[in-house]
Amino acid sequence: MNNTRRHTLAALAAVPAALAFPTLARAQGKIVLGFSQIGAESEWRTANTESIKAAAKEHGIELKFSDAQQKQENQIKAIRSFIAQKVDVIAFSPVVESGWGTVLREAKAAKIPVILTDRAVNEKDDSLWVTFMGSDFVEEGRKSGRWLLENYKGQGDVNIVELQGTVGSAPAIDRKKGFEEIIKAQPRFKIIRSQTGDFTRAKGKEVMEAFLKAEGKKINVLYAHNDDMAIGAIQAIEEAGLKPAKDIIIISIDAVKGAFEAMMAGKLNVSVECSPLLGPQLMQAVKDLKAGKTLPRRIVTEEGIFPMEVAAKEFPKRKY
Ligand code: AHR
Repeated sequence: MNNTRRHTLAALAAVPAALAFPTLARAQGKIVLGFSQIGAESEWRTANTESIKAAAKEHGIELKFSDAQQKQENQIKAIRSFIAQKVDVIAFSPVVESGWGTVLREAKAAKIPVILTDRAVNEKDDSLWVTFMGSDFVEEGRKSGRWLLENYKGQGDVNIVELQGTVGSAPAIDRKKGFEEIIKAQPRFKIIRSQTGDFTRAKGKEVMEAFLKAEGKKINVLYAHNDDMAIGAIQAIEEAGLKPAKDIIIISIDAVKGAFEAMMAGKLNVSVECSPLLGPQLMQAVKDLKAGKTLPRRIVTEEGIFPMEVAAKEFPKRKY
């Protein structure tokens, strides 16, 4: 028995009989979409899940939603289960970049198109997915770096600590890359510590406490790969008796409501936008695919940047 068949059968065995066969939804002519979400690690992710669920309802698409609790193995299991259920389209947001080749080949062999949302995979064979929709994470890193170079007022060396996202994830790799690419133009800006906070508030706080313990008042800037980690770190900075956004300049990414609240309270300097509202775009792409249309290989989300000075004015317009 070949590998693909063995995996498909194994997944089939794990799926309740009622789900293993064409569903009522398909009998009613509905498109069935299997979506594997990373988890619920951040305010961003919660908004992304809500956007996908609401858009599926609005478009009359039957959504089979699976939460992987930040584990790649759970995402692989979910994708195999979608293959076994013969869904029309599979979409997923890959927790890390590598290790997807086998399961994506299984989907291809089953002739089920795959859409990547939010995060990319690191696979040579790009025929394994039809499109990748989401932000340009390298550009978000560059925007963060440019804001710092243009707005930092102090003289002399600038010591930066970096809270990275999940190890091996596309946003952690790309946001680091984009930021470093810009700050290297001015060698006085130095990253003195860099560690993962796994995109969560709790980890962001814990790692910032360790940074403060090791470097204390030497730290001039915090660059956090998302708002949740920055919000956790703000708590650590305050508990250490320092003033966030004054004693330590804070830059983060996402522009979720929690970040706007922190900016309005004067505790966060800037948040670079990364929109989680991918649901409507995804459902349109699923419908287009089923209608036989060819999708663009890359669909990039348009995004802005919000410094604390505009937070109060922008806040009422924020949707996530
Ligand atoms: O992939 C997008 C990132 O994942 C967001 O910036 C972060 O908040 C989320 O958990």
